[in-house]
Amino acid sequence: MIDLRSDTVTRPTPGMRKAMAEAEVGDDVYHDDPTVNRLEERVADLLGREAAVFVPTGTMANQISLRHHTEPGDTVIVARGAHLAHHELNAGAALSGVAIHELDGDDGTFTAAQLEAVFPTPGPSLPYWLSPPVGLVALENTHNAAGGTIWPLERLYEVVNAAHRRGVPAHLDGARLWNAAAATGIAEADYAAPFDTVGVCFSKGLGAPIGSAVVGDRDVVDAIRRLKQRHGGGMRQAGIVAAGALYALDHHRARLVEDHARARRFAEALAELPDVDVDLARVQTNIVYFAVPDAPVFAARARAEGVDLIAMDATTIRAVFHLEISDRDTERAIDVVRRVATS
Ligand SMILES: Cc1ncc(COP(=O)(O)O)c(C=O)c1O
Repeated sequence: MIDLRSDTVTRPTPGMRKAMAEAEVGDDVYHDDPTVNRLEERVADLLGREAAVFVPTGTMANQISLRHHTEPGDTVIVARGAHLAHHELNAGAALSGVAIHELDGDDGTFTAAQLEAVFPTPGPSLPYWLSPPVGLVALENTHNAAGGTIWPLERLYEVVNAAHRRGVPAHLDGARLWNAAAATGIAEADYAAPFDTVGVCFSKGLGAPIGSAVVGDRDVVDAIRRLKQRHGGGMRQAGIVAAGALYALDHHRARLVEDHARARRFAEALAELPDVDVDLARVQTNIVYFAVPDAPVFAARARAEGVDLIAMDATTIRAVFHLEISDRDTERAIDVVRRVATS
């Protein structure tokens, strides 16, 4: 099976398994695990920030950051389709008592002017206490649901600066920040610099089995470390999995551009097919969304021919390229979707 459902389906490579098996470990709840400590220093360094805390999942990275920044009753501003809004089971409401407000912008981004428009101008007829307080602005880079799209750096800084001018903190869901950096050549640290907190994942395109991190200033990361513990994220000999993440940072970052090239090749082939609609401008990294008349039937037929795709809704299909997908797999996948689309 050529599994294009997600870049999370990858299994640890033999080299990664060896690094994990040989990891030096300790009790990370006491901050005594040398491999976790090494990973946290490495990630803080890569993102140009003071400190990092290793957490089990991207969802926890987002949710404990959100919990840190907000009060119950706050609004969190995100771009339409954000993972935080749609794929974390309303955790923001359940765990932090916040409401999520999605802004409609371009390709998973929005402008500072759009953000400004969320804040009403208070006056005698509209006192400030009648407007819901905005507690956080959370961007996603790359933006999964928009197609793995990349925030233009200038727009990202404008939005974060606009939030900060209002006294509102900013969080980055950087589950695939590595893909943005690989695609543009802009360092992860440059994308991360303006944010109060940044979450990154090792378990997506980088191919580690488990693990994410939150980075930021030391005092913020210290507070988030306590929230990790409170939410049940304290892990003991976590160096076993941290070693997989370190291995992924060393060996799998540079190769992300190969996934991007395969995603583009696949998308360009799709664009030639009848009754298949793909927006090539949105294929910027490793994710391809395309529309067909009946997505569940299309996906079932592709699966029967050995290509696993996700039908996201009645007409939308997603294909994600990752380290287990070769050029040959890509060509085979193209053959299969071509047959499904034309027969
Ligand atoms: C953009 C984005 N953020 C966060 C997450 C959550 O990561 P996890 O599955 O590790 O909780 C995902 C998962 O796919 C994601 O795509």
